[in-house]
Amino acid sequence: MVGLSVVTRTTAGQDRFRRTEGTGAPGSCTPYDGRVGEENRAPGAWARRAIGLLLQERAAGPPTPLRPFPLTAVPGAPLYVKDESCRPTGSLKHGQARALLLDALRRGRIGPGTALTEATSGNMAVAQAHFARLLGLEYTAVVPGRTGPAKRRRIEERGGRVHPVDPPLAVYERARALAQRTGGHCLDHLRSLAAVDDPGGLGAEILHDLARAGEPEPAWIVVGAGSGATSAAIGRELRRRGHGTRLAVVDPENSAYFPGWAAGARDYSTGMPSRTEGIGRPRPEPAFDPDVVDLVIPVPDAASVAAMRHLRAVTGLAAGPSTGSCLWGAFRVLDRMRRDGTRGPVVLVAGDGGEPYRATYYDDAWTAAQGWDLAPHLADLAEFTATGTWPVRSSAP
Ligand SMILES: Cc1ncc(COP(=O)(O)O)c(C=O)c1O
Repeated sequence: MVGLSVVTRTTAGQDRFRRTEGTGAPGSCTPYDGRVGEENRAPGAWARRAIGLLLQERAAGPPTPLRPFPLTAVPGAPLYVKDESCRPTGSLKHGQARALLLDALRRGRIGPGTALTEATSGNMAVAQAHFARLLGLEYTAVVPGRTGPAKRRRIEERGGRVHPVDPPLAVYERARALAQRTGGHCLDHLRSLAAVDDPGGLGAEILHDLARAGEPEPAWIVVGAGSGATSAAIGRELRRRGHGTRLAVVDPENSAYFPGWAAGARDYSTGMPSRTEGIGRPRPEPAFDPDVVDLVIPVPDAASVAAMRHLRAVTGLAAGPSTGSCLWGAFRVLDRMRRDGTRGPVVLVAGDGGEPYRATYYDDAWTAAQGWDLAPHLADLAEFTATGTWPVRSSAP
């Protein structure tokens, strides 16, 4: 056995495994394509130890809370919030980032000293920076130049570097080029997640939580889609188990998931960025799997913001705007269940916490500047919470 468990300290003060084996596929930035050759190698001793560390971290993390939402007006259909803001890096991207790294390590794409790059400024970058530091690897998030200081700080606090570029769409190319230049590895989550499996991940955890709470299997799970990987993983878990649970994906304005799903067009493009952070894409990403999604619900942006505020007012839980979209979608699903007489728990996924959005989505001046009128949506949400009936004045999705 090669002595790879020795840990040395870098000048940056981070623990780093000694570089005694290859550095993974140099400049690799594309998902594994099934070919076996020089570029792909079995994980060496360092990588096996790194895999062990990640699995240990996973085993040590408690499940996130499943919080009841106090809604009694829909008989036999309790509503729960799976609170992913309690992950160590504050979002559902924590498990995804770990799964992505595990996959790259198992494919021999990351070795000791492999510098990691990624094109994102969001929760994924925060989680990846955390895991890169755990493994003693350098990590650079390539972000749009307009990325604000608070977002940059969240990555830097976890040991990541931030590399701003313009125009915003150049981030993908730059992250790949940077990896190529340094012999590193571009994690490229938007493409790579399509091939990553995470058995026992979020879907399994939700089912386990419900069983522990003495509930039957859920009637619906409601989640948003950014890369689409979360919905795909949950949907596949449900199909694998042969559950009757249905999966709803909520989709913000400007996003391609709803129109693409409704039209049966996998290449539908809106060309417009989402204004609901974390979810919605101008075109469906490769990880999105429409075959395991039962319903896609378009959600007005102002309704998402109203719902995130409603959630905080009713439960005290401050979550991000994508959670607002999920709550709004869950109410629409529950209204349909009441009309159909369907029973069973409904679980929505709270993807992240509210703190990063204090000066934006939780700020009245900021939301007004976006042109969003929250009042009618707040009234709808309050009425539904009190009566279990969605008011007819709203436009139905
Ligand atoms: C904050 C946040 N980010 C991202 C997502 C979407 O995850 P994915 O990129 O896996 O589609 C969600 C889903 O609800 C979310 O709440």
